[in-house]
Amino acid sequence: MKTAWGDCLSDIMSVAIDGPSGAGKSTAARTAAAALGFAYIDTGAMYRAVGLAVRRAGKDTADPEEVAACLPGIHLALRYLSGVQHVFLGDEDVSEAIRTPEASLAASDVGRVPAVRTFLLGAQRELALRQSSVLDGRDIGTVVLPDARVKIFLTASAEERADRRCRELRAKGLDESYNNVLADIRRRDEQDANRPIAPLRPADDSIPLDSTGMSPHEVAAEIVRLVRLAAAAERPQSNEIGEVI
Ligand code: DC
Repeated sequence: MKTAWGDCLSDIMSVAIDGPSGAGKSTAARTAAAALGFAYIDTGAMYRAVGLAVRRAGKDTADPEEVAACLPGIHLALRYLSGVQHVFLGDEDVSEAIRTPEASLAASDVGRVPAVRTFLLGAQRELALRQSSVLDGRDIGTVVLPDARVKIFLTASAEERADRRCRELRAKGLDESYNNVLADIRRRDEQDANRPIAPLRPADDSIPLDSTGMSPHEVAAEIVRLVRLAAAAERPQSNEIGEVI
């Protein structure tokens, strides 16, 4: 496959970006994917859509049996409109509706349910097989794509993440207190890191990247640099070709 940056890569390449909520994964992954000419796959949006569907069905997102029983009725699709990922439940574009604080907690709840993880794992792998992609989530490097060519574990302090989230919410006209947002972030961190299935943790071969004090642009640029470095390291050196011939 040819990419936007020429013939550095001859095959499909996956880049895994994992880390806690609010570390800047989605902005960095989206920007880096665009710069590399890769697809961007936001796996958190898939968990959010499942959480939203369960809430709308009037079921308890924290009850694994109730959640699992909802799955056959959930018709989840990712569509790319002008290169931007949109999430659909049936025919409804829920890309905005999945961004509320309630949908965030529902996503974290349903992410603890094994049946949900199995339900989404196949779809995520299939998407990554189709094209070079940057995927962000919690378990991409450890579970979904353990062979991803580049794995990055992106973090930032809880306080900075809460601050960023408050600014995002304010920009959307939503007012939430800093303390509530920080408490939500800590609760989700705790849930995501301590669940028995696919807990949030860095893959052994991941590269740690702390985005505290970095701009989104700087984080994306660092990811692009790391991907290019990995691709360059895999290109055969001319003397190696000489020896083969
Ligand atoms: O990245 P995000 O904040 O949109 O993710 C929402 C929730 O979904 C998060 O609390 C945990 C869950 N999630 C997950 O369990 N595994 C993933 N690969 C992505 C998200």
